[in-house]
Amino acid sequence: MIQIPSAPSSAPSIEQYLGKNVHLLPQTHQLRALHTVIRDRNARREDFVFYSERIIRMLVEASLNLLPFEKHDVQTPVGRTYEGLRFASKLCGVSVVRAGESMEAGLREVCRSIRIGKILIQRDKVTKLPKLYYASLPADIAERQVLLMDPMLATGGSALAAIQVLLDKGVPEENIIFINLLTVPEGITAVCGRHPKLRLVTSSIEERLNENAYMLPGIGDFGDRFFGTDV
Ligand code: PRP
Ligand code: URA
Repeated sequence: MIQIPSAPSSAPSIEQYLGKNVHLLPQTHQLRALHTVIRDRNARREDFVFYSERIIRMLVEASLNLLPFEKHDVQTPVGRTYEGLRFASKLCGVSVVRAGESMEAGLREVCRSIRIGKILIQRDKVTKLPKLYYASLPADIAERQVLLMDPMLATGGSALAAIQVLLDKGVPEENIIFINLLTVPEGITAVCGRHPKLRLVTSSIEERLNENAYMLPGIGDFGDRFFGTDV
């Protein structure tokens, strides 16, 4: 049973998306303890990186559950048939540079030789609007399921720009699974409202955005904290 986070009246309702487009990791005590470490403003960077990567690994595993599988039987060493399954389609990752690169190692841990494309989008520090600088993607990306990786989905501006790059390359909306650590009702509404067939996997739905487009209670600037450019 998915817990619907309490949101102030100013945040849009996301009930219609939960469990359909939005897959929230089970809010276990373990997950909450991992979040407690990385949300602490006094967390050491090595702890921030280590515990973020643990959550990323959980997100990647949850995303793989959403992929299509096909029947694949094998013979066991004791002469019986195991009625198994295997992935039914090609897969690739796409990270939104820079913060999305923090999720590449977690994806490679479970999908050894996976192809990973990159899209460079940066939010203007003042206007908070996203700007596309660069994209490098597998040539056959239109035939693949795509795990789009960005740890933060706030206003949704960066995500919408990244998703548009994928759509322009011919990736069907329903083949995109967007993975993030933290999101907020405003970001969910922006992305799922525009792209109703896309699926989103997250480990936390925050209360709302503040006036500087940061999530509350939030984590601060994820990229700066992960890559050590915050001091
Ligand atoms: C962060 C984050 C997202 C974006 C989310 O990137 O990684 O890409 O903000 O915010 P939005 O939903 O309001 O667009 P940022 O531009 O701070 O750059 P970084 O990757 O270098 O940290
Ligand atoms: N990007 C971040 O790194 N953090 C936020 O809260 C919002 C956007």
